Amino acid sequence: MHINELDTPALLVDVDQLARNIAMMQQQISELGLNLRPHCKAHKTPELALQQIAAGAKGVCVAKLGEAEVLARGGVQDILITTPIAGLKKVQRLIALQRQYPTTRLIQVVDHIEQIQLIGKEAQQQQVSIPLLIEVESGQQRCGVEVGDELLNLIRAIQACNGVSYLGVQAYSGHLQQVKTLNERNHAAREAVLPLFTYIEQVLTPLGLAPSVVSGGGTGTFAAYQGLGFTEIQAGSYVFMDASYRSIEDLQQASEPLFGCALSVLATVISTPKPHRAVVDAGMKSLSIDLGMAQVLDDDSIRYQCGGDEHGILHLSQQSQKLRIGDKILLLPSHCDTTVNNFDTFVLVSGTEVVGEVAIAARGRCD
Ligand SMILES: Cc1ncc(COP(=O)(O)O)c(C=O)c1O
Repeated sequence: MHINELDTPALLVDVDQLARNIAMMQQQISELGLNLRPHCKAHKTPELALQQIAAGAKGVCVAKLGEAEVLARGGVQDILITTPIAGLKKVQRLIALQRQYPTTRLIQVVDHIEQIQLIGKEAQQQQVSIPLLIEVESGQQRCGVEVGDELLNLIRAIQACNGVSYLGVQAYSGHLQQVKTLNERNHAAREAVLPLFTYIEQVLTPLGLAPSVVSGGGTGTFAAYQGLGFTEIQAGSYVFMDASYRSIEDLQQASEPLFGCALSVLATVISTPKPHRAVVDAGMKSLSIDLGMAQVLDDDSIRYQCGGDEHGILHLSQQSQKLRIGDKILLLPSHCDTTVNNFDTFVLVSGTEVVGEVAIAARGRCD
């Protein structure tokens, strides 16, 4: 079937570009001598996680326990939950998941002694053990303990607790992923984590407390971390790319970017009220706007503007082709993670041919 026969709005994934992106990031990370642990918050889909693992990824990350539940059910064997959890209900779900999938490695990020003690208590009662990564502050000022005594105290707290084990640390500088120029981005990314690696070398290693795993980095910063001491990279968006990632300077600084856009939203023109304005059936319930507006694929003469929950406004210029009711338009999302969260299904395409579909099983799992 040709994509123009699809009902809309539809979320399309170009399987050829997807495969190239997956292979390219795996090659980049392997060349750095690191493990790739892709962040599945970008695609929220067990099938794609397994494709990344088949290409060489060590395991995967998820942001939420709900996503971990879906991926574990889908057969993913090694899952890092990159956000701390709180409260008995959540902790009991984590432990229940570990018991349900005993051969799956579930790793949990923490940044407070209360999380450690609660997870440890419940895990011990249920006779499982949960490996923990301690999140450290690395410039984003979100979660994370300061490098220094706060980190040391948490390592000791984990070691004193049954039911949990100290695996390592997480340092993710999310605020730097989209700094526009490559040199500035790389410089800032290294500066943000240097205190951690100095502390590991000067304090933790002599105490025998060096982390086995240091996890972090994303699509925008992975290349900065060569030789620093990270063991694994958590890049996520590279599978699809989006308009905001496309606008930063690529690490190759060459005409051909490393990663291409594999994700698009197909929309239909539903109204043409003026010669310079058409309206499509994809508003913010389809295309997220947290990182700006979507772009019309391969046509700079048309500007997309969100026209509300269900409407997208296309501003046409003199160069634009004339649009008619029923015409189809491909839009490049500004932010892949939050756009994917709007859809139940990826329509798989190769060029303009539909080749299959896959359920986005963890979409909406913000729990
Ligand atoms: C903790 C963490 N690691 C990794 C990523 C992946 O980053 P990116 O999608 O920029 O590659 C994210 C994205 O938000 C994140 O929150």
